[in-house]
Amino acid sequence: MTIKQEINRRRTFAIISHPDAGKTTLTEKLLLFGGAIQVAGAVKSNKIKKGATSDFMEIERQRGISVATSVMGFEYKDVKINILDTPGHQDFAEDTFRTLTAVDSVIVVIDVAKGVETQTVKLVSVCRMRNIPIMIFINKLDREGKDAFELLDDIEDKLGISVSPLSWPIGMGGTFKGVYNIFDKRINFFENEDKFNKTEPYAVTDLKSTELHEIIGKEHAETLEEEVELIHEVFPEFETEDYLHAMVSPVFFGSALNNFGVQDMLDIFIQIAPTPRPAITEEREISPYEEKFTGFVFKIHANMDPKHRDRLAFVKIVSGVFKRNTNYKHIRLNKTFKFSSPTAFMASKKSIVEKAYPGDIVGLHDTGNFKIGDSLTEGEIIHFKGIPSFSPELFRYVENGDPMKSKQLAKGIDQLMDEGVAQLFTRISNGRKIIGTVGALQYEVIEYRLKHEYGATVRYEPIRLHKAVWLKGDEDQINELKRKKHNSMALDKHGNNVFLAESSYELQLMKEKYKDIQFHLKSDF
Ligand code: G4P
Repeated sequence: MTIKQEINRRRTFAIISHPDAGKTTLTEKLLLFGGAIQVAGAVKSNKIKKGATSDFMEIERQRGISVATSVMGFEYKDVKINILDTPGHQDFAEDTFRTLTAVDSVIVVIDVAKGVETQTVKLVSVCRMRNIPIMIFINKLDREGKDAFELLDDIEDKLGISVSPLSWPIGMGGTFKGVYNIFDKRINFFENEDKFNKTEPYAVTDLKSTELHEIIGKEHAETLEEEVELIHEVFPEFETEDYLHAMVSPVFFGSALNNFGVQDMLDIFIQIAPTPRPAITEEREISPYEEKFTGFVFKIHANMDPKHRDRLAFVKIVSGVFKRNTNYKHIRLNKTFKFSSPTAFMASKKSIVEKAYPGDIVGLHDTGNFKIGDSLTEGEIIHFKGIPSFSPELFRYVENGDPMKSKQLAKGIDQLMDEGVAQLFTRISNGRKIIGTVGALQYEVIEYRLKHEYGATVRYEPIRLHKAVWLKGDEDQINELKRKKHNSMALDKHGNNVFLAESSYELQLMKEKYKDIQFHLKSDF
């Protein structure tokens, strides 16, 4: 197979949803089709159940699961599919944002009864910033839910995307008959997964036919006819190009738990979902078909065994072919490295690979050389863009709880920040360190991991802050702000200027006063 064929048969994507919409269940069904797992129940949910927030064994167990399921690769109809896992708990949303930098498309799962939920809104807005093509699976049609038109309105309103349904439900919950495939004009009948002798799809020649009335009942048939007419009036005809340009999202209806509608979506997915896309760097755009290897680190996973301090850095291959035991340049450190045991992920098995192609993810053993966002190349100096840090929502001062262990604490904090567990800021006026997170759970995780992996004790002190904002723009004005607001200035871990706003009111005032400074709520600008 040529390199071009290898690249073109890859589909790298993530499934995103609000917790409980059915992401784990859908992932599992996709893996079943790919033969990557044999039985349902093999994919463990990595969500942290409510009430388990102080159960650290649970967090450790889930970290274990999330190493195993970070990337799930499998083959389906000669297509190499890589599903990148994202954490379910919203306190770890930043992990998900970073994973989205490594995917070429996403599937959004929406619960038919709940509609668009908060976490989905946030995640989709990140996809939209990066023009990632989005496919939508409306799940749990075996239960009563919202009216399909209402749902699609809700999606267009709240997610700000245009949709084009490719299938349409007939009934719902107790009266759910199946879905009408608008594309192929077929009806797939709903049956529970465990039912043998599934009814073959029914090819619809005429929605008015008496035969159809007999099969799904007069009422359902008439409703379907009306609704299909309305769909053609209201929604644009689906064009693959529009989807690939992230202008329209195809929508499917089904039930992941009952394995209904999943294969239909997968079959269309492998036909239309994007092959590895070009990546933007500070220097230039990089095409996956370029000869030379380039890639970037989007995730770092610490070893579960505290006795072994090595970590796994996840690298997305952007262009060329990554080869084992070959020298590559680590751009930030300006050093050459070669990797003797790069890991590939097929289903839940890890294995050492000789080669990896654009779209693939390899895990590299790391003793502390990598940070999120690092570039690896054959020598060219490039810096990948689009790996954002968002302003944290919560802030605390960190203090050393055990004076004998200050080195361990510094090292532990440094490494956990490299992993992207939270963000560290140093207040310029007094040198105090501040940890910012998106959820309270992270503080507990940091405290626990510092103790168990580094033997250090951390003490937090409260601090009232609204946001940490990155500054760009007129140098003179930035310097003036730094002088006038000396106590509110800090540096992030890369040494960038950050303004620590105590309230939204203060932030607003500063924006009005310093018109030539841009106050950014994320660091990737
Ligand atoms: P998540 O990863 O998005 O958080 O969701 P997950 O797949 O864990 O699904 C959340 C719950 O919804 C699970 O039930 C799951 O069985 C159920 N579910 C998923 N798809 C469907 C569907 O098509 N129909 C129906 N009726 N339910 C569905 P649970 O009771 O929370 O967990 P479990 O004890 O069944 O594992």
